[in-house]
Amino acid sequence: MLDTAKRLLLRPSARSDVPPFMVMDVMAAAARLEAQGRRIIHMEVGQPAAAAPATAIAAARAALSNGPLGYTETLGVTSLRRRIARSYAQSRGLDVDAARIVVTTGSSAGFILAFLATFETGDRVAVAVPGYPPYRHILTALGCEPVLIETGAGNRWSITSEALLAAHRARPLKGVIVGSPANPTGTMMTAEALAALIGCAEDAGIAVISDEIYHGLDYAFAAETAARLSDDAIIINSFSKFFCMTGWRIGWMVLPPQLVRAVERLQQNLAISVPTLSQIAAEAAFDGYAELMKIRQGYEENRRILLDGLPRAGLDSFLPVDGAFYLYADVSRFSNDSFDFATRMLEEAGVAATPGVDFDPLHGRNYLRLCYAGSAAEMKQAVERIGAWLPDFSRRGER
Ligand SMILES: Cc1ncc(COP(=O)(O)O)c(C=O)c1O
Repeated sequence: MLDTAKRLLLRPSARSDVPPFMVMDVMAAAARLEAQGRRIIHMEVGQPAAAAPATAIAAARAALSNGPLGYTETLGVTSLRRRIARSYAQSRGLDVDAARIVVTTGSSAGFILAFLATFETGDRVAVAVPGYPPYRHILTALGCEPVLIETGAGNRWSITSEALLAAHRARPLKGVIVGSPANPTGTMMTAEALAALIGCAEDAGIAVISDEIYHGLDYAFAAETAARLSDDAIIINSFSKFFCMTGWRIGWMVLPPQLVRAVERLQQNLAISVPTLSQIAAEAAFDGYAELMKIRQGYEENRRILLDGLPRAGLDSFLPVDGAFYLYADVSRFSNDSFDFATRMLEEAGVAATPGVDFDPLHGRNYLRLCYAGSAAEMKQAVERIGAWLPDFSRRGER
């Protein structure tokens, strides 16, 4: 019996061996300092400080009092799918068939479903670097190969048609993931650049997955949706960011019609359905538009405070701060170890930020991501604290 138990000793699979998310280490360090009584300004975690809109909370309260919350249709409650479709008509003048919309457990589940429905194991999928780490890690865990496409200032920090085709020629790609506004950079693709990339990818037989989770949070210019540019693109979106509903774990996809049944079968088996309470709240969140627009105005104000203040504080080099709520600063003038830089900024200045190494295995050591989803008062304080600390850090140099 004991021998059998020993033989069966469970070890994690090779496919589960994905890197951790370093932002969690920063969060833990910040929590330790707070436990000692320090006041920390949190700019490390990429989530709204605000709660879900009052309309969503009221709908959830009513649903809790009104009776059992059973499973729903796997593709999502019909009225929510219709409401999401209507939002494309209202905000973009686009006619999106509600039958193409699938409600998911956050966009995170959308990625798993999209990758499983579209790719075979071994398929190569292009992702931008710097980029959101779970794209790479989910692909790896599912047996696909993420192909890192380096971006830079010359191509506005996004994948170009040329770079995509070069990687495709080297070894064929099956997919490409685009995100605009992007995490961690906050940078956006112009409508022309997105159209060119989608056109060239689809001509080459490369499936396009467009992560539109930061839509609604576009300040430099209007973010374009891939839904306008192609019926074959897979669009992934979420109630986490614009709608301030991270913890409700709810998102959606717009799928090419031929993938809907495959995703339905996958979701039937993987999740049965998406949390009912969250679906009810999400539908009502669309009625909280005025409240959400005020929160968005707060981000715009925060962005202005950082764009004005950080250069005066000494941090004067960052990627185009177009949308989402991120500023990706180049700190190479001060350090070539952004983890050490972030650790010391946290310990000495009380400002928590995320080192770029999470997002960019190639050059992340030179970058720091600052999230500006907090309050204007916190942003002003962060600028002051960084301004007071940075000259001292520069004098002492790296550890
Ligand atoms: C670019 C991007 N995509 C997707 C997600 C996942 O969000 P959720 O699963 O909450 O919808 C995040 C979360 O930070 C993100 O930054």
